[in-house]
Amino acid sequence: MKKFKIGIIGVGSISNCHIDSYLGNDRAELYAFCDIDEEQLKKQGEKYHVERLYTDLEEFLKLEEMDAVSVCVWNSNHAACTIAALKAGKHVLCEKPMAVSVEEAVMMRQAAETYQKTLMIGFVRRFGRDCAMLKDLIASDNFGEIYYAKASYLRRNGNPGGWFGDKKRSGGGPLIDLGVHVIDLTRYLLGNPKPVSVYGITFRKLLDRKQLKDKKAYVSVSSTPEDVCDVEDLAAAMIRFDNGAVLSVETSFSLNIKKNVGKLELFGTKAGAVLDPELELFTETNGYLSNVSFDAKTSLELKEMFQNEIDHFISCIAGEADCVTPKEDGVDMMRILEAVYESARTGHEVVLS
Ligand SMILES: NC(=O)c1ccc[n+]([C@@H]2O[C@H](COP(=O)([O-])OP(=O)(O)OC[C@H]3O[C@@H](n4cnc5c(N)ncnc54)[C@H](O)[C@@H]3O)[C@@H](O)[C@H]2O)c1
Repeated sequence: MKKFKIGIIGVGSISNCHIDSYLGNDRAELYAFCDIDEEQLKKQGEKYHVERLYTDLEEFLKLEEMDAVSVCVWNSNHAACTIAALKAGKHVLCEKPMAVSVEEAVMMRQAAETYQKTLMIGFVRRFGRDCAMLKDLIASDNFGEIYYAKASYLRRNGNPGGWFGDKKRSGGGPLIDLGVHVIDLTRYLLGNPKPVSVYGITFRKLLDRKQLKDKKAYVSVSSTPEDVCDVEDLAAAMIRFDNGAVLSVETSFSLNIKKNVGKLELFGTKAGAVLDPELELFTETNGYLSNVSFDAKTSLELKEMFQNEIDHFISCIAGEADCVTPKEDGVDMMRILEAVYESARTGHEVVLS
């Protein structure tokens, strides 16, 4: 059985989910790590017993026997790392968001086409059991026409700090970091319709709330007093798709709400559904309004989602599966995100051709 030799570019916090899942796949072999932060590189090397450690991407990509890489660097470096890896003949699994602009995303797609390698985008929510169940229910026509959807990913006090708040490295705030997950999941559930128009708003009112005395609720991976915070703290948008469906989305790092919200609602002609986080259906039975709950666990499990994602990536590079989260969907997502920011800036709806 062929074992695929895997490299990781960027061995920060999310790399752990990738690495653990490669270790959970018996056709993957953890081969080498690359990170510009030498201390972090050494720490992860020791933790996972990986000895091929590189701070120089070019040197790392010279490892001819390495088949594929996960790109887990901050957003503004996704494009450069991905294109270099594709050019070096590696298959790439790139974390979400694909890039920080449509222009970059298109260049990444073109590089994958030129060098004929798999470029998969880490839309991990597509690999959750909640998504699989909803897809199944939708495919069996339990919903009729789904014409409206609402998605919320709101944090009361959850700016992660570090590069997440620094627009140069992140490309934006909660929209590009959190909103991307629920917009993509909804679009996938709707059958990947094309976005045709977007109206968006963003606010920078509460920033990263460093002034709070109660830090208990603070989600922080790497915040220091020197951190820049120049991203939005709330974003909302109405996205219209070519099948007539409309998605209303809202997402925040900081917002004066009672508690964090992670919720997705679908509204169809035969039934509606909410994921909050368990799945519930609202329909009619024999002329009576009825609610359907499920005995099976329907909420998402992080470990399981990443394992499914990595297993799928390995199947794709083995030529056994068509990619479920292809580069084309990454480009479409960047068109939506860029349009929300543009609409917020101009105050006008953005029409996508
Ligand atoms: N799928 C998910 O649910 C999920 C969750 C968290 C983060 N992410 C994504 O994963 C990526 C990384 O996020 P994180 O939380 O792990 O951040 P992190 O800061 O913990 O790790 C990023 C690492 O990349 C390294 N790095 C940056 N530029 C580099 C380059 N050019 N070459 C090599 N190393 C480089 C940094 O030194 C750092 O160690 C982001 O794109 C983020 O959006 C996805």
